[in-house]
Amino acid sequence: MRVLVVGSGGREHALCWKLRQSPLLTELYCAPGNPGIAEVADLVPIAPDEIQKLADFAQEMSIDLTVVGPELPLTLGLADELDERGLAVFGPRQGAAELEGSKVFAKEFMARHGIPTAAFQVVHDVNEARRAIKEFGFPVVLKADGLAAGKGVLIVADQPEADAALKMLFEDRRFGRAADRVVVEECLEGEELSFIALSDGERLLNFATSKDYKRIGEGDTGPNTGGMGAHSPSAVLSGEDASGVLENVMRPTISGMAAEGRPFIGVLYAGLMLTDDGPKTLEYNVRFGDPEAQPLFMRLEDDLLPVLASGARGKFEVARLHFRKAATCCVVLASDGYPSDPVKGDPITGIEAARELEGAEVFHAGTALEDGKLVASGGRVLNVCAAGPHLRDALKLAYEAAGRIHWPSKVLRRDIGRRVLTREA
Ligand code: AMP
Ligand code: GLY
Repeated sequence: MRVLVVGSGGREHALCWKLRQSPLLTELYCAPGNPGIAEVADLVPIAPDEIQKLADFAQEMSIDLTVVGPELPLTLGLADELDERGLAVFGPRQGAAELEGSKVFAKEFMARHGIPTAAFQVVHDVNEARRAIKEFGFPVVLKADGLAAGKGVLIVADQPEADAALKMLFEDRRFGRAADRVVVEECLEGEELSFIALSDGERLLNFATSKDYKRIGEGDTGPNTGGMGAHSPSAVLSGEDASGVLENVMRPTISGMAAEGRPFIGVLYAGLMLTDDGPKTLEYNVRFGDPEAQPLFMRLEDDLLPVLASGARGKFEVARLHFRKAATCCVVLASDGYPSDPVKGDPITGIEAARELEGAEVFHAGTALEDGKLVASGGRVLNVCAAGPHLRDALKLAYEAAGRIHWPSKVLRRDIGRRVLTREA
């Protein structure tokens, strides 16, 4: 099979690494990819938002399956475009990608289908927002409706913070039209985790549980990032809670989308909060989590390619996925200044030394080649992943591998998984 992967992060590197292991694969392309992905796929210089160009490439190269990594091309209608040209794609069409593309759609959808989530109101201007904030009390959460590169969620603790947030949303228009509508919602407390499954529009294939660490700072402090580390299993979800999430969140989402004429084919990722009242849905994503995908693909035993190809055709050929009993983890190496203003251009050394450790893998995210030398070119630069019999072993190996990699502005969180291990001990 000839496969095209769209994206350029650690998630797409891990996806390409996993697909490369499939005996069914003949050609693997990645648009636009990165220098690490170039080790396992042919790079195609097309950006993820160039929908027509991506579809033209898939058509010209007779691509048998396109797999879309990030949400942006999905919300821009890449799956629709490929579909209309008779080309197979694993990823939701624009109408179904609304689950991630519009927080108002997602919240109202959950309300229509009785899916547990935080209480909320949709507001359109600063006065409505003030009234809603007063009703909920502090702390309260404000969310821009549209995509805002992970920065559109504001958790405000008091009136001065609320004033600053409202100014940013409605006066400075920091998020532009993405904040034409804003969700004001109850702030939930508990442990967060990611629940990821594949859907063919009707059926679900669950991934193992995973957990990511979103804050930049140790002890979950500082601003939110795309994710500074992850592990699988999540080690925070009991078997009983997992079946609750399946029955109360995942299945009703897939059947609700089908009933509303927006069948969901692709990756459904529910961000959950385990509250005292049970699991509640914080958000949907319509793609694999990054960095959660990296440890998940390292645990997945099955050949992923036929699973995605059959899903794209609308009917999975298997009833479940199989995961190694091992634990896996990912530690993100970023550049100082991330998430707002990361240092760029530092040369990177030590990746080969890290990969020499058995059970360790290094996936690239923000890297580039400059005069033949590998340099850091983004906020999240490398993903150091490892497998071990238990989470403790996987984390020890990942941190050892991470210690072999150097560049002047390298930063990492040293506490990925620590709280979970302390609780287990
Ligand atoms: P979202 O993009 O909706 O996932 O929000 C990003 C992050 O904000 C989540 O991963 C949570 O850490 C936090 N968050 C979102 N909604 C809530 C909420 N209702 N209560 C507490 N934290 C939230
Ligand atoms: N790691 C969080 C995300 O991919 O949205």
